[in-house]
Amino acid sequence: MALVAILTVGALIGCNKGGSSGSTSTSGSGGQSSQQVLIGVAMPETHVQRWQKDGANLKTEVERRGYRADVAFGDADQNKQNQQIQSFLTNSAKLLIVANVNDGVAAAIADAARDKVPVVAYDRLIMNSGDYDYYITFNNFKVGQFQGQAIEQALGLKTVNSDSPKIITLFAGSPTDNNAKFFFDGAMSILKPYIDSGVLKVVGPYPPSSTDNANFQRIATENWQATVAKTRMENLLNADAKDVTLDAVLAPNDTLARAIIEACLTDAKYNSASGGKLPIVTGQDAEFASVLSIKQGQQYMTVFKDTNRLAEAAVILADQILKGQVPDVPGATLASGDLASIGNTGKKTVKAYLMEPIIITQQNVNVPVDAGFYSEQEAAQLR
Ligand code: BGC
Repeated sequence: MALVAILTVGALIGCNKGGSSGSTSTSGSGGQSSQQVLIGVAMPETHVQRWQKDGANLKTEVERRGYRADVAFGDADQNKQNQQIQSFLTNSAKLLIVANVNDGVAAAIADAARDKVPVVAYDRLIMNSGDYDYYITFNNFKVGQFQGQAIEQALGLKTVNSDSPKIITLFAGSPTDNNAKFFFDGAMSILKPYIDSGVLKVVGPYPPSSTDNANFQRIATENWQATVAKTRMENLLNADAKDVTLDAVLAPNDTLARAIIEACLTDAKYNSASGGKLPIVTGQDAEFASVLSIKQGQQYMTVFKDTNRLAEAAVILADQILKGQVPDVPGATLASGDLASIGNTGKKTVKAYLMEPIIITQQNVNVPVDAGFYSEQEAAQLR
């Protein structure tokens, strides 16, 4: 036992001294030291592009600090992700960084706690679990507020008269992703007053907030699947939105925004080739394809969450936890006051470290480009 402890501490001190680049090369195949501490990284899915990037970023950041990384993607299947987490534990991982698929992950997190392995919830809060202490994410309510504000501005809602209201339809993210509720409630904090005063009219289901569960389920998009959103948009265009022209669609992220735009373009009303005009469509994640679409005047906005920085901050947090230090994460603020509830899992309130999102429209697509968020080739197309 004592020997193991010494080796572990030695490995940690060694890693720290190893500094940034030196240790990375030892962690790939072959030259890896058996003393290197393993950090398990569980990502939820690959069909939303950001997670592929998050997984790669986390691996780089973990290795840069001299740890060994094992990264797994759950393919939007919680059973699969739980097995991946089990295998991290079997391989003696000393810490887990988890972006969960849904709250079915709680059982695996309980196993980690039993093994005294700390867990950092990454981007998505792990609901209904009291078995972990840390969460790092962006201010997700603000993400939604940005989406609402973009619609407010683009439609000039402050000066619209209720005699000729603007028309919107609403989409939300996965009903099993707690973030989806924050995004929606943030957007509604801006839009609801206009709906109440009749300046903005909703076609299709209308949950005034995510707590209206029945209607929220109707606008939610299972597992954030683009095909689900596209089909729902097509159905809306042939039913509730058939006899109106939509001025805006609240779309929760870029993957779904593009699917919604694709559906709209099949309708002459919204296709410039037939003299039509797309509604204002929101998004988030600053995915390359969406930022290009914004530059070209199709998607209206996105929200840039610098996930390169999130990954870095998450691993700094992990490193401090493993070293028994009091976490102090540069670029992230420990949520306090009203915001502390962002860390409320329903079983306990974990420490939530928040980073700031940035609103992106045609005016400032340079922001994620200048932050180095894209490949050279992509950046060249956005300049
Ligand atoms: C993330 C978003 C992402 C969505 C779908 C959310 O939990 O915060 O950035 O677009 O999941 O993967």
